[in-house]
Amino acid sequence: MRHLLSVDDVTGDELLGLLDRADELKAERAARLRAQESLVGDELRGRSVALLFEKPSLRTRASFEVGVHELGGKALPMWDSEVGLGRRETIEDTGAVLGRYVHAIVIRTFGQDDLERLAAAAGVPVVNALTDHEHPCQALADLQTFREVHGGFDGRVLTYIGDGNNVAHSLLLAGAKAGLSIRIAHPEGYGPDESVVARAQQLAAQTGAEVTTTTDPRAASEGAHALYTDVWASMGQESEAAERARRFAPFQLTPALLSAAADDAVVLHCLPAHRGEEIAAEVIDSDRARIFDQAENRLHAQKALLATLLP
Ligand code: CP
Ligand code: NVA
Repeated sequence: MRHLLSVDDVTGDELLGLLDRADELKAERAARLRAQESLVGDELRGRSVALLFEKPSLRTRASFEVGVHELGGKALPMWDSEVGLGRRETIEDTGAVLGRYVHAIVIRTFGQDDLERLAAAAGVPVVNALTDHEHPCQALADLQTFREVHGGFDGRVLTYIGDGNNVAHSLLLAGAKAGLSIRIAHPEGYGPDESVVARAQQLAAQTGAEVTTTTDPRAASEGAHALYTDVWASMGQESEAAERARRFAPFQLTPALLSAAADDAVVLHCLPAHRGEEIAAEVIDSDRARIFDQAENRLHAQKALLATLLP
């Protein structure tokens, strides 16, 4: 593995290996906290990691910056107002220059093609911290959280209700690789890319998982072990928010959908969440929600990723 631009850049075994490493790092951190020891290790000692954001972020920026610190490295957070990606100079020049200073580049941007251009020029590992197409770091934390709750993936189902967006794409690929069945319930015209669904189905055929899409959220929720949702209008789609709110209204994650899921089903959301839109307040604020474990696991999963990419 050289970059993580898509979940499809890792094999199923590599994905499970990252989750194992993330669990180990989480346990080690908890033990150090209990012993009141320093949380700073040495996996990235003497290394620097650029964190470049073209869109807002709370979890990704904070978890990567703290993660690099805890691995003994130096994080360089940068905002697009300073970098002007693709405007101040070419994306290739930005990648090549940054690659002369740092040992990895973590970037949140719009187009997957821009990410690929940066990675091709950088000469150091590049990590997708969210594009319009994928959010692979989120999927790592999501699977880590699912496995903590349910103990494994085989024979289990995660249902994602809402927009067939970046988060849905990465979940489809990650679930299929890990052997976790994924059902996507979306409004007509807002499903995941057919090419991603086809690739996930191909991968799922090798792991015994099932990948399905539907426009019926109730049917998709039946017996599921996790119900997951995300905002209806992603960053960059603000002008579509009103139309999407109308189209997505029947896809709110409600107590009724949760009662159709398995008795031990949990509620997941990548956050930020909008209570009363994609998820009812009583669902996200219930004891079934694992949203803060999910957010915390971004830290452990990304530390595992960086420690693996920068051996
Ligand atoms: N889930 C997630 O990526 O959150 P941020 O947009 O706050 O980084
Ligand atoms: N789909 C959302 C995820 C935010 C973490 C977005 O792209 O805005």
